[in-house]
Amino acid sequence: MVPANVIEDLKFRNNIEDVIASYVTLSRSGSNLKGLCPFHSEKTPSFTVYSGDGHFYCFGCGAGGDVISFIMRMENLDYRAALDYLAQRCGITLPDDDSRERGGVSRQRVIEMNRAAAKFFHHMLMKSEEGQAGRDYFAKRKLSGATIKHFGLGYAPNSYDGLKKYLREKGFTDEEMVAGYLCQRSRKNEKNIYDCFRGRVMFPIIDVAGNVVAFGGRVLDDSQPKYLNSSDTPAFKKSRNLFALNYAKNKKEDYLILCEGYMDVIALHAAGFTGAVATLGTAITPEQARIMKKYTDKVVICYDSDEAGQKAADKAMRLLSEVDISVRVIRIPGAKDPDEFIKSNEPYGAVRFREVIENARTPFDYKIFQTLSKYDISDAEQKVRAAKELCYAIADIRSKVEQDIYIRKAAKALELDAEGIKADVRGIAKRRAAAQKKKDREELLRNTARLGDRVDPDFAKEKRSGALESTVLGLMLYRPEYIQLDADKSLLDPEMFFSELNRRLYLKIRECYDSGGFEFGMLSEGFSQEEISKASEMIAKRRALSNNGEAAFLESVEALAMEAEKIKNRGSDADIESVIERRRKENKN
Ligand code: CTP
Ligand code: MN
Repeated sequence: MVPANVIEDLKFRNNIEDVIASYVTLSRSGSNLKGLCPFHSEKTPSFTVYSGDGHFYCFGCGAGGDVISFIMRMENLDYRAALDYLAQRCGITLPDDDSRERGGVSRQRVIEMNRAAAKFFHHMLMKSEEGQAGRDYFAKRKLSGATIKHFGLGYAPNSYDGLKKYLREKGFTDEEMVAGYLCQRSRKNEKNIYDCFRGRVMFPIIDVAGNVVAFGGRVLDDSQPKYLNSSDTPAFKKSRNLFALNYAKNKKEDYLILCEGYMDVIALHAAGFTGAVATLGTAITPEQARIMKKYTDKVVICYDSDEAGQKAADKAMRLLSEVDISVRVIRIPGAKDPDEFIKSNEPYGAVRFREVIENARTPFDYKIFQTLSKYDISDAEQKVRAAKELCYAIADIRSKVEQDIYIRKAAKALELDAEGIKADVRGIAKRRAAAQKKKDREELLRNTARLGDRVDPDFAKEKRSGALESTVLGLMLYRPEYIQLDADKSLLDPEMFFSELNRRLYLKIRECYDSGGFEFGMLSEGFSQEEISKASEMIAKRRALSNNGEAAFLESVEALAMEAEKIKNRGSDADIESVIERRRKENKN
């Protein structure tokens, strides 16, 4: 068990506001922070962060807990991995315990191993004989020695055991290599492992803390797959990393440039656009949008000019706008992607690209541009369709002022009356709001109903006892001095708790207290997220009340003791009756 003081320290260093703010856009509301709940879909914020005591609670879906359970949910980690994650985040090392050995390969080990692998790949590229193929490739793509060094690019030799042998020498185990997605197990013989990346130029993916968390590797010819990327490992989650963000976070400009590929980012950085980043072979995720928001309020989307790229741009616009990033979109003229554009415009690549950026369109101007190139508006029927499409797009815009601006723009582009467009837009918005409201309500009902009976089925059976138990536990969790009071005076007894969940909570609190101290985060070991949410709900209830003094605690304890006694007697009554009943039957026979 990780002791309470270590958890306290970890929570102190990982301020819950900062941690949650990297996932959820929070705004101040009194002494707390509010935002849209990341655990259920909602349009009005009911997710609350209590910085003062390090808790969060969603009044919509009932999800709650502390920074540890937040990370467990968000990153889908178990207790120990979440502690490691937070320790890593604030740069401390947790005291070793044997459970981590059992728990497989740690994030730290994978990072150490990746660093060694990156060194190996880079050395192979720069110095080895077989690295010639890689050197030729990068020369063909016009990368300078300085750029190769800056990005730590490498070459994975075309062999099944080059890296494996190197890593073994450095003391890494087969299990670690497999967990870090550098090697995989042979299908014929599970005991054998071989290198994943072979005959590829290598792009290390480095997180903002400077750790090599993964790799992408490109073939040198036209074979498939063109790129191979690390799968998710203990050190890497594809959906929440961006290539080159480690450099882009220190960009000169006040915007980030979002592109599709490794080579685009590298070409842009080499041309002086140091704010370029790329998602890793997938469409942008909400997490990546939130991460970008941490570093900038402006993003220029610069996807490939093919249809797939343009579709992806639509999604990126939406996700980035949702986190309040101001978005601009580029359609690269005369080239397939930024890399090709810069290189085909040499020696003016950088100058021309800057012009393109300066002429980037707002999402809506871009939408008008797309729509006008799709429909022939001299044809009445096509014009109606174009108008409809634009009305739907305008209805998506949150600000009424902005809506009005675009209503006028759309009217002008389509040569239509603005009032007509306005009426259609308002109609769509109204229908949408009604549908959303209905959905939110249904979702809420589903969530609360589910939580109620599944997490704590005993509550409904003995409502009065359940309420008293929640009060007592809520007070103990909200004001930990009552835990001490209870221990000092031996007030409570596990048997007083009718609900099995509440009894377990009480036992855990006592057990922790008796062995050095209780900290809310310790519940994350042994309790499910829903059970922790129940505990958070108890705290939330106390927080909303003012009678949380010692007298209230003592009264509740007493009332609970009496209630427990009553239930017990009622129970024995029932027992007597069943005995009588059985006797009656026996007598008849
Ligand atoms: N990608 C991937 N797996 C593939 C193909 C692509 O992960 N099989 C990802 C890579 O991150 C790649 C990006 O998608 O950089 C864009 O793909 P693509 O446009 O095909 O490649 P380019 O970046 O243009 O690469 P290159 O210029 O080297 O052909
Ligand atoms: Mn390309």
